[in-house]
Amino acid sequence: MVVIHDVEKDKEKINEAGAIVRSGGLVAFPTETVYGLGANGLAGDTISAIYKAKGRPSDNPVILHVPDQKSVQGLVKEISPLAKRLMDTFWPGPLTIIFPRSVLVPDRATGGLETVAIRCPSDPIAQAFLKAAGVPVAAPSANISGRPSPTTAQAVYHDMKGRISMILDGGHSVIGLESTVVECQGEEVIILRPGKITKEILETVASHVSYDTHLITGEGVPKAPGMKYRHYAPKAPMTVVVGEAEPVQEKMKTLYGDYKKEGKKVGFLVSRELASAIPSDCPVYVWGNRKEKQELGEHLYQGLLYFDGHTVDVILAEGTTEDGLGKAIMNRLGKAAGHHILYV
Ligand code: TXA
Ligand code: MG
Repeated sequence: MVVIHDVEKDKEKINEAGAIVRSGGLVAFPTETVYGLGANGLAGDTISAIYKAKGRPSDNPVILHVPDQKSVQGLVKEISPLAKRLMDTFWPGPLTIIFPRSVLVPDRATGGLETVAIRCPSDPIAQAFLKAAGVPVAAPSANISGRPSPTTAQAVYHDMKGRISMILDGGHSVIGLESTVVECQGEEVIILRPGKITKEILETVASHVSYDTHLITGEGVPKAPGMKYRHYAPKAPMTVVVGEAEPVQEKMKTLYGDYKKEGKKVGFLVSRELASAIPSDCPVYVWGNRKEKQELGEHLYQGLLYFDGHTVDVILAEGTTEDGLGKAIMNRLGKAAGHHILYV
């Protein structure tokens, strides 16, 4: 684990990380969304090493990370006018765009698809690392498949120790949820995975923005293969309760009473507003102010991981409304709970 305090002063360490990737090794690095597990995106066999380290299903394609727009050129067949507007507006930043791929992109990166996902992260350490690597960096989130994405170097270490060459430690990821993944069809943007760049924000640039139908109905095959897996799951089963503070509190009290009768130990993932009402003998993770979705998003995965370190039989989680960033938060929380959501 290599701590980066200052991108300029620690340039040597970042250059070393870039050299490792160029020569076929695996390096975990911070981004503004979550930590990525990086490998040379032009070399099929090193991409296979990522799948192995993560235990990832082989049909799930990876995102190629680049430091700037011009690095996209050789990787894609074409850049549509809408895709160009999205890049101009949201890059560098938490938006991944799907393009028709060029022959340069190895099959291992795309899971055999004719498209390739590309993202240009804004985090300064990620930027410096990508420039140092000098190749597109294939990088899924740096967790064991099915576990919450890591938002700290410590969480990466927990999952990846002994499996990779280096971890660049850049502190807590500021967003804490993976990038928004979009596909462009003519003048329409289709959201395949919700994230920080919300539907409302995309509507400032595109006249039509819709969600992949799988995200709305939960049925059919999702366009982003990774969205079909049960993700982000803590070890204990979880129930999410959504509504105004008071009814949520009431519902949790009733559920807690039932569980207690069954002799079950209950953990709580709640907002600051509800924290004081939680029985004192229960593990509780306070993930932010009820109305501050940015804060909730930032701490969600750490909250889920918290309960792996505290033996509980069940988790009761307070959900949020699906406006703005709430869509992405509830998408991840819903998956973690196996879609066991109660609206009160
Ligand atoms: O914020 C992020 O995007 C992080 C950081 C490290 O950049 N990366 C990340 O990668 O979340 P990963 O591999 O955990 O998720 C990538 C998602 C998966 O759901 C995958 O199926 C989808 O993007 N995806 C990748 N290539 C695709 C393609 N060609 N077509 C459709 N979906 C694609
Ligand atoms: Mg992932």
